Amino acid sequence: MSAEELQKTAQAMVARGKGILAIDESFPTIKKRFDSIDIESTEEARRNYRDLLITNPGGADYISGMILFDETIRQSTSDGTPFPEALIKQGIMPGIKVDTGAKDLAGHPGEKVTEGLDGLRDRLKEYKQLGARFAKWRAVITIGEGIPSMACIQANAHALARYAGLCQEAGIVPMVEPEVLMDADNTIDVCFDVTRQTLKTVFDTLFSMDVTIEHTILKTNMVISGKKCKVQAGVQEVANKTVRCLLETIPAALPGIVFLSGGQSAELATAHLNAMNKSYPDLPWPLSFSYGRALQEPCLKTWAGKAENVPAAQAALLHREKCNSLACLGEYTEAMEQAA
Ligand code: 13P
Repeated sequence: MSAEELQKTAQAMVARGKGILAIDESFPTIKKRFDSIDIESTEEARRNYRDLLITNPGGADYISGMILFDETIRQSTSDGTPFPEALIKQGIMPGIKVDTGAKDLAGHPGEKVTEGLDGLRDRLKEYKQLGARFAKWRAVITIGEGIPSMACIQANAHALARYAGLCQEAGIVPMVEPEVLMDADNTIDVCFDVTRQTLKTVFDTLFSMDVTIEHTILKTNMVISGKKCKVQAGVQEVANKTVRCLLETIPAALPGIVFLSGGQSAELATAHLNAMNKSYPDLPWPLSFSYGRALQEPCLKTWAGKAENVPAAQAALLHREKCNSLACLGEYTEAMEQAA
């Protein structure tokens, strides 16, 4: 793929009013999601569920790409069309999660480093043949007593840069995902400082390892209060602090930024994105979404593993996709939830 094609792919991922649907849950994560609706995580159940997400009529109006898991990129729709082909037919780009998970970082209790670089060049070649246009690698930064350490941030930034370089070599756009977790009791200001340090380190490392910024997409957390913090910052404060943090750390040459939802409720994730785009319409990059849970949760609950619920589940997904598409334009309102 030429440089021009990489740039086109990156720009298409964050096309106006469009975002990414993450359906790349690993085996342990999808089991957790299925446990919540009391169904067993068998290969066929996972295929049935991903089938309804991938073939949702109308989804392509709001969704530019979907991130698949290794098992999913090899599965097919009920009528036998391989999932990547089913997406491409609708004008949705297939993406693929290529990291192999966050493991304990030696010498740093409570901290993780993401693995998956060994053999990545060959895996990317295969994923490209299977139709992948972009890839994802998630690094996890934990806030706690005395953490994160610079060692953890640097180890993860280094792995992200090596992954991104390999992706670009393979003609695949890297979605670089450093996620500062929101599970602790920290204030929003601590999240700001940690996110700022993390993003600064990641972009310095991408630069020093010659990753082309114009062919990269950033997926990151919002600057937000820890879930267990007694004082929860309001929507406008989250928008203001997130945008300030991005402006301080992210080069203007980046084609776009997408957010993960990270455990926010579906409606709050939409409201935060909307407030950013409404208050800051002239940023150097589009701000969009690449949610997993915040797009899927209402759909998953409605489906509950039953074939007869598929149309209603697909409608629930489409509603969240539409709300987040409008949030990319700063045109979402809470009233849209009542109308649903
Ligand atoms: P959530 O939106 O559920 O956080 O998932 C997005 C994702 O892909 C995390 O890597």
